[in-house]
Amino acid sequence: MDHFNYREGQLYCEDVPLERIADECGTPTYVYSRQTFTDHFTRIRDAFAELSPIICYSIKSCHNLSILSMLKDLGSSFDVVSGGELKRALEIGADASKIVFAGVGKTEEEITHAIDSGIGWFNVESEQELEHIDRIAGQLGKPATAALRVNPDVDPQTHRYTTTGKKETKFGVDMERARRVFKEFGRDRHVKLTAIHIHIGSPVNKIEPYVASTTKAVDLIQSLRNDGFEINALNIGGGFGANYEKDEAPPAKAYAEAVIPILRDTNLQLLLEPGRSISGNAGVLIGRCIYTKSSGDKQFLISDASMTELLRPALYEAYHFVWPVKPAGGLIPPHRGHDLKLDGTLLMDVVGPVCESGDFIAKDRWLPPVERGDLIAAFTSGAYASVMASHYNSRPQAPEVLVEGNTFRVVRNRETYDDLVTAERV
Ligand SMILES: Cc1ncc(COP(=O)(O)O)c(C=O)c1O
Repeated sequence: MDHFNYREGQLYCEDVPLERIADECGTPTYVYSRQTFTDHFTRIRDAFAELSPIICYSIKSCHNLSILSMLKDLGSSFDVVSGGELKRALEIGADASKIVFAGVGKTEEEITHAIDSGIGWFNVESEQELEHIDRIAGQLGKPATAALRVNPDVDPQTHRYTTTGKKETKFGVDMERARRVFKEFGRDRHVKLTAIHIHIGSPVNKIEPYVASTTKAVDLIQSLRNDGFEINALNIGGGFGANYEKDEAPPAKAYAEAVIPILRDTNLQLLLEPGRSISGNAGVLIGRCIYTKSSGDKQFLISDASMTELLRPALYEAYHFVWPVKPAGGLIPPHRGHDLKLDGTLLMDVVGPVCESGDFIAKDRWLPPVERGDLIAAFTSGAYASVMASHYNSRPQAPEVLVEGNTFRVVRNRETYDDLVTAERV
């Protein structure tokens, strides 16, 4: 699952005790394992190898430059959704011709910059966007290639806020409309509409939704090809699961084994956009207990890690396993399930200092007793954690640390109070 394990009573990332990182870098701090990133990327690459896919790591899940660089060295390309993410990919020297640019609201400036940079594909979400790209490509006299994002109307069986492949969501165009879009834009345009894109949601811990949506996409492609359109690529998006509790995410091999037979004889270049399945288990957020208090039957652990570093619990009541870095009484967790209740534990809410009742990292958890100054870790915080951090309550953003074996380095510095006000000194 990952390289965060308890040894001799305390939590390590690879061969580095997290306590050492906290002592040197302070808290809250995000800690990433290089080996976990590598393992998860390699598993996807190997599982889909038969189809030689272009794996476009989804930068939105964890966008640190050192991590992008490390993934590029492993052979990854990138999925970007903004000019800012494109900047990050180009900054680390990614091959622009394999970058995909997604998102429902690309601006004129972003499109111009992306065409100028020679990106591989725009994942296009509407006719208006296609018109826009076509016009800009014409003005620049440079080619642009697009994949039409279709909405397969498949339920990914995940949280409603992260469901994207159902027809009532804002994403893509429905199958019927897709045919009309190809009739209008599929020939003789500056933008070459030669691919289909789907992304049904995240995290998708079931295989069937991928089978259903890929089958629908391939059927659509066959019928478009019968009408004479040239389609040479299919992007099946991201959304593969990460393990927040036990082994709830199917292995990469299981997704691949289900999808490969559908694609084997289609002569399509496969693109994938995995984010969380690579980054999710590769990070933890560590925080320090500032105070404890009780109110009625309830114990509160007030940590310096809060919703500004880990928004997912407040945003969609997402579950992150939380446990002390050096648990009292040597209570090492046998697993990370929400139902864990060991003898000697107390019922607690783990909350931050932010002025919101929604500022919690964990609610109603049975944790070992914690004292002021103790360290805690929120697991599976590699994806959609640091990237969603905010400055709310004027909190400086936390540093990021990358561990490799028995060494670690800071890959993003902690912001200072001065950083918070610099852009406002006008
Ligand atoms: C279009 C698209 N592709 C890929 C992803 C990455 O999803 P995940 O991190 O679950 O793999 C997302 C996530 O929102 C997305 O919207």
